[in-house]
Amino acid sequence: MTDYNLIDSQLRALLDGEGDALAAVCNFVALLYNALDDINWLGIYVLRDEELVLGPFQGKPACVHIPLGSGVCGTAASTLQGQRVADVHAFPGHIVCDADSRSELVVPLLVNDELVGVLDIDSPSLSRFSEADQAGTETICRTFCGQLENIPGFI
Ligand code: SME
Repeated sequence: MTDYNLIDSQLRALLDGEGDALAAVCNFVALLYNALDDINWLGIYVLRDEELVLGPFQGKPACVHIPLGSGVCGTAASTLQGQRVADVHAFPGHIVCDADSRSELVVPLLVNDELVGVLDIDSPSLSRFSEADQAGTETICRTFCGQLENIPGFI
């Protein structure tokens, strides 16, 4: 089972005093990618002019532009609700980036109550993400977004 409290502590230590938003996002993505097992893609899509644009990630090259409301990421962004998808093939409008992906977790990222993007995690296993994974990941994202409040330049 993933120790989200440990990841949260590691993230706080990693971002402590960091003033560069891009560096902070890259380290956030790398930390989480290496802390989770059974995943094949993890990264950020950034909100830019009413669409999501690919940001720092780990995994295979992925689709670059996602309209708000499209796919799992666009749905999370337009509803501001986390999306935990047990079977991506059963999700209407799911956008295939890596054909290995079977389940997916997407968390909206809000800085100062404003949507700045989403965190997207893909797994090659069906039903990879539990409620505890979603809650833990949302906690980590809140810590990350709290740090970004002190770093200009991400939005
Ligand atoms: N599957 C996502 C697209 C992004 S990739 O998984 C990296 C979606 O449906 O929004």
